[in-house]
Amino acid sequence: MAKQVNQLERTTNMKERTLAIIKPDAVADKNTGRIITIIEESGLSILAIKKLRLTAEQARQFYAVHKERAFFAELVTYMTSGPIYVLALESDNAIKRWRALMGATNPAEAAEGSIRKLYGKSLSYNASHGSDAPETAKVEVAFFFKESDFIR
Ligand code: CMP
Repeated sequence: MAKQVNQLERTTNMKERTLAIIKPDAVADKNTGRIITIIEESGLSILAIKKLRLTAEQARQFYAVHKERAFFAELVTYMTSGPIYVLALESDNAIKRWRALMGATNPAEAAEGSIRKLYGKSLSYNASHGSDAPETAKVEVAFFFKESDFIR
């Protein structure tokens, strides 16, 4: 029994969470359902999902790490231009798994069949976002969700 509990703990501990965003261009193009299908078929589980429109203040805060970059103003304008979906995803290696499904940041460089290749239009209008590391994932998931939002 103790062995089984330990095994269960190890399995549970392997789970990782990440934040996914379906960006305004993908929502406007009605690609939300297709992207959710890709997520579901990949084995990532959706712990929580929410549709919202970011305020400029929220977008500036969420992307604060990029505030010195030349593209920051454009990024904030774009991210507030229409509704988005935010999703808390969970699986083993969720961060890597979701980033692989999205493909490279620039759709022109993204792998065939990846979300950004299929639905992105440019470096700015790139259909989706994903956390890039465990620490960022924690902050980004907590930006939109609280623990009680998660349903398994
Ligand atoms: P995302 O994964 O949401 O993280 C930051 C976003 O900035 C990125 O996707 C791109 O959509 C956007 N962006 C715009 N220009 C650049 C750039 N030159 N380099 C990186 N990201 C950029």
